[in-house]
Amino acid sequence: MNLQDTAEKRKAIIEFCAKAGQIIGQEAIGMLEKEEAWESILEGISEPIVRPEKVASLIAGRETKLVNVEREAVVTKGRQKGLAKDCDPDYRIMKEYDITGQSTSEGKVKDFLTYFRDKYDFLSSLLQHRQGFSPKSPEKLKGLKKYEQVDLAGMVIERWVSKAGNITIELETPESKFLAIVSKDDLALTREAERILVDDVVGIKGKKFTDEMVIVQSIIWPDMSQRPPKLSERDLSVCLVSDTHVGSKLFMEKEFTRFLSWINGDTASEKEAERLGKIKYLVVAGDNVDGVGVYPEQYDELAIRDIYAQYGKFCELIGQVPEHIEVFIIPGQHDAVRRADPQPAIPGEFVKGLEGRGNVHFVGSPSWVEIEGLKCLIYHGGSFHDMYAATKHLSVKEPQNAMIELLRRRDISTGFGLNQPYVPEKRDFMVIREEPDFYFGGDMHHKGYSHYRGCTVANAGCWQERTNFQIREGHVPTPGIALDISLKTRRITENNFKGEVGNA
Ligand SMILES: [Fe+2]
Ligand SMILES: [Fe+2]
Repeated sequence: MNLQDTAEKRKAIIEFCAKAGQIIGQEAIGMLEKEEAWESILEGISEPIVRPEKVASLIAGRETKLVNVEREAVVTKGRQKGLAKDCDPDYRIMKEYDITGQSTSEGKVKDFLTYFRDKYDFLSSLLQHRQGFSPKSPEKLKGLKKYEQVDLAGMVIERWVSKAGNITIELETPESKFLAIVSKDDLALTREAERILVDDVVGIKGKKFTDEMVIVQSIIWPDMSQRPPKLSERDLSVCLVSDTHVGSKLFMEKEFTRFLSWINGDTASEKEAERLGKIKYLVVAGDNVDGVGVYPEQYDELAIRDIYAQYGKFCELIGQVPEHIEVFIIPGQHDAVRRADPQPAIPGEFVKGLEGRGNVHFVGSPSWVEIEGLKCLIYHGGSFHDMYAATKHLSVKEPQNAMIELLRRRDISTGFGLNQPYVPEKRDFMVIREEPDFYFGGDMHHKGYSHYRGCTVANAGCWQERTNFQIREGHVPTPGIALDISLKTRRITENNFKGEVGNA
């Protein structure tokens, strides 16, 4: 073999691996270029990194005809038969709902006024369109007789329990304020009223009590309309992961690498290979790195103590996702953007390692992406914490219920001034302006999913072992699980990479 042949073979090997999304080093190339059947040897490697040890074992296997022992358990990477690999993606990043590049807030009083007004106008207009509900101005109470029926709507200023034990809610409209009283004897209504948070915009069906007070008979949420789930035409699916916390000593690199290998087609099961072949989209829902200085004792808990190095590693991992899969990555509180919602996309300077990867998209939190004609809301989930703190009926083990609560409010922010900070942008990026088909989240380190009024809500688990903080809080996370969700059937499958690989 002359030098020209060798150079061409090297080039062909590198191109072959690049096409399959594999990384290959000099040592492995050196071994392969001596082999006539280098192509079929590479076909036997499903991992995203072509290791020289693996090449050596396959070469040895070929010579002794034992290769089948090794190869039975793998479906060759890059040889997925499914539709996903052979079709063009169909997506649109809905930039109109993404704060990235659109932040104008100076945090002045006028910003707060514009923000609250925008939120009130949108949410109250949803209430006005509800059938059987026509809210009047609270001023109209003056013209009504005592106990006459009335519909009102307003933004919640405060909620408290009166001395008599009744829940009392103070609400305001741009014109005036009113009080809504929930009788403690009505247990179902009391439970519903306990869900109300400061800054919620709700409708009240009730009876006039005084010129400024009504007795509540029912509470109306802006909510989603009742509708059947919209399904995609093509038989494709989306995979959801979150909270990798790369850089933490507790980042589960082994399990995440298994996941990467799997999404590259490495599975022993025919059925799973078929499902894998349909994955065309991957959503990564925030807390991608652990960050530096996010909480006081964090420094000692970091395996990588430099934020750029953390992202370097993260990019190295995400870079192994096959290029035929479109990846949408949002930030979380641990990422290198402002902690306050709405969070803009992670700036390019941190993720240079993915520069030029046209299939990887960094977007804000919240953000919206239309995938195969279906609208997906993606939000990391900082405001969940306030929901749990303010309401009695939610459990961190069922994050899907907190997500549904936010859908009912058509607002993913919770009361201003609570734990989760957010910036009063002139346009409220936190209200849910359209009815999403999917709502993806993370943050709770606990998986959970459900369907609500045509919307599939899915919260990813995490790729970080249980932290000291979670031990103190008694929270048991569900790490090492990737969800894949069919866009055509809405079927959700858990893929467990902790312990034995396979479905949970
Ligand atoms: Fe997290
Ligand atoms: Fe988080």
